[in-house]
Amino acid sequence: MALRRFDLEAGGDSFSFKPETEEKVAFWRAKYPADKQRSAVIPMLWLAQKDNNGWLSEPAMREVADRLEMPYIRVYEVATFYTMFRLQPVGKFHIQLCGTTPCQLRGAEGLKEVCTREIGKQMYVTDDKRLSWEEVECLGACVNAPMVQINDDYYEDLTPETLSQIIGRLRNGVELTPGPQIDRVNSAPEGGNITLTEPALFDGSRNSVSVLPNLPEPPPAPEPPPEPEPTPEATGQPDKSAPTNTDREEPSSKDIKE
Ligand code: FES
Repeated sequence: MALRRFDLEAGGDSFSFKPETEEKVAFWRAKYPADKQRSAVIPMLWLAQKDNNGWLSEPAMREVADRLEMPYIRVYEVATFYTMFRLQPVGKFHIQLCGTTPCQLRGAEGLKEVCTREIGKQMYVTDDKRLSWEEVECLGACVNAPMVQINDDYYEDLTPETLSQIIGRLRNGVELTPGPQIDRVNSAPEGGNITLTEPALFDGSRNSVSVLPNLPEPPPAPEPPPEPEPTPEATGQPDKSAPTNTDREEPSSKDIKE
């Protein structure tokens, strides 16, 4: 990591926030009580850096300290600790190259050679004021190593060739697409997903569970009731219980006379 020193000459004698930034300054200060204003130091330094062409001059740090009623040294301590704060002028596009172990193992050294060859030594600003670079510690995108941060965006899964193309585009004002520079969505597998690809997992059709595992055996189904005897009307047969002619009582001679 490069030695971080203030550039006391390049920063001039004064700094003031841009009028349009004052609203953001008020927003951050309003987040903290009057006696805890120093808690806003990091966002305030970030705003100051944005308003000062991407780096923090010593007057800019003092302005932040005055606004938050902090000793200057307390603000200097924060600004010098975090590499997100630059203490020297940088190019319009400042490349922060991660040189920590995962990125090293995946080829960060080759990316450093590209930056040195195409831009110059660390913190050198090209004559057209467009490019500068520095090596920083882990930027938290190790799964996409090796990577760089250019201004506010990450460019990941780099090779010396792709970084060289990116630098060429920055130099020529060609628009770039941040993110992984290979066929990969964020940190998903290269070439697309190879697991969990079944559409039913995502369209809701797998949400209804028809059979729960490990349930006790269901009781046996009850016997069906016996079929009822068919009625004579239904079968078309005479009713056997009805009296037949032979069953009728013979009329007596007395009945006949009457
Ligand atoms: S080691 Fe490079 S992003 Fe973490």
